[in-house]
Amino acid sequence: MRFLDVLMDEHRGFGSMLDVLDAIAGRLERGSEVPMPMLVDVLDFFERFTDRHHDREEAMLFPLLAKHGIGPDQTVVSALMSQHEAGRVYGMKMRQELKRLQQGDPAAAAALVADARGYTELIREHIRIEDEYFYKLADRVLTEAEHAAIVEQFSGSPGSRASHPERERYLKMLEVYPAIVAGWRPSA
Ligand SMILES: [Fe+2]
Ligand SMILES: [Fe+2]
Repeated sequence: MRFLDVLMDEHRGFGSMLDVLDAIAGRLERGSEVPMPMLVDVLDFFERFTDRHHDREEAMLFPLLAKHGIGPDQTVVSALMSQHEAGRVYGMKMRQELKRLQQGDPAAAAALVADARGYTELIREHIRIEDEYFYKLADRVLTEAEHAAIVEQFSGSPGSRASHPERERYLKMLEVYPAIVAGWRPSA
């Protein structure tokens, strides 16, 4: 299996969950009720699955590419790393805002909506750059052994086909939550 198939498969999962987060943000914005356990799960998904994907890219993929002359001094690599960091910051802010929301802070919903919108836009653009450009570039320069090493590293991650303690839980979220959101009326 090529590394980009594994990583792009994870991206597809992130994309579905970004749609879920957008739908939740829409309900918060309209003052409609939001299922709190679902919002907790969605933010957990981004922290433990998406952030880990970014961590692995930085620990595995980027150092290998640096050996082939595509290092942090290259604009695309530094832009992708900045997006990872911005994503982590959005995640931390959203988790804090969720706590405030659960404690009844009336200002928390608007702040959470703004950060959710910022986060979904950022990560969609990040995925677009990697899928359409960066992974293809990496696919061309990496050796077969490097491909295999990346696939092995990522195969321990929650969204991969290989076994992982949390895999079932995250796959279940991807099965259930987009379907719930699809059933929400736009004005509800
Ligand atoms: Fe990625
Ligand atoms: Fe990335």
